[in-house]
Amino acid sequence: MIHLINVTKTYSELKALDDVSFEIQPKEMVFIVGPSGAGKSTVMRLLYREERPTSGQVFVSNVDVSRLSHSQTPILRRRMGIVFQDFKLLPNKTAFENIAYPLFAIGMDQNEINKRVHGALKVVSLTNKANDFPKNLSGGEQQRVGIARAIVQGPSLLLADEPTGNLDPITSMEIFQLLDRINQRGTTVLVATHNQQVVDQMKKRVISLSNGKVASDEKIGTYTTQV
Ligand SMILES: Nc1ncnc2c1ncn2[C@@H]1O[C@H](COP(=O)(O)OP(=O)(O)OP(=O)(O)O)[C@@H](O)[C@H]1O
Ligand SMILES: [Mg+2]
Repeated sequence: MIHLINVTKTYSELKALDDVSFEIQPKEMVFIVGPSGAGKSTVMRLLYREERPTSGQVFVSNVDVSRLSHSQTPILRRRMGIVFQDFKLLPNKTAFENIAYPLFAIGMDQNEINKRVHGALKVVSLTNKANDFPKNLSGGEQQRVGIARAIVQGPSLLLADEPTGNLDPITSMEIFQLLDRINQRGTTVLVATHNQQVVDQMKKRVISLSNGKVASDEKIGTYTTQV
């Protein structure tokens, strides 16, 4: 599903990623951890082709995404869902409309949109808030809308960069349990996070970055695992 081969990303003098290689199989759920500045978001941005590596290759579903032209990136992003720390919801649209937005953008017909959005709302348990605007939702609810929007096209890969960075511990745990359920439905899930407690509890594979390098990669890891 994901394969990074000797990836280096340099910003002027600074090596944000330094010869990083790892592979993630379809249907895995994996955490990327590491101190601030370790390169977690850089990995994410390379995967959704917001950035290109300075050297090395980044494969998503056997496509070298670093070779995609700008006009080809929407096709890549249709097959992946992206969840952000700050939710990135449109404030003047309801939960329903936010989730429907990517479907409108590709010109799907209204009946199909309704069906898919209701399905996504059900997954995140927000059917009763469909017509609410983001400002009337709690942080956790807003992130659940963000997750529903990310899965509404049925992506095979879900990327989440610090999805609980703005949420309290109990709400964070709920969000991680939701991501786990989405993984169990067959979606590959990659989460960059600082949330040590959740990582330690969930007993998933943990890739730990330090100064742009893979410091450890444990099948059932904890946040504090270091080589
Ligand atoms: N656009 C950019 N221009 C210059 N330097 C950058 C840019 N983006 C990231 N960096 C640098 O690359 C390094 C890795 O950044 P990255 O955002 O990947 O870290 P991170 O692990 O996600 O950190 P955090 O936990 O704080 O989110 C940092 O030193 C950062 O300052
Ligand atoms: Mg980051």
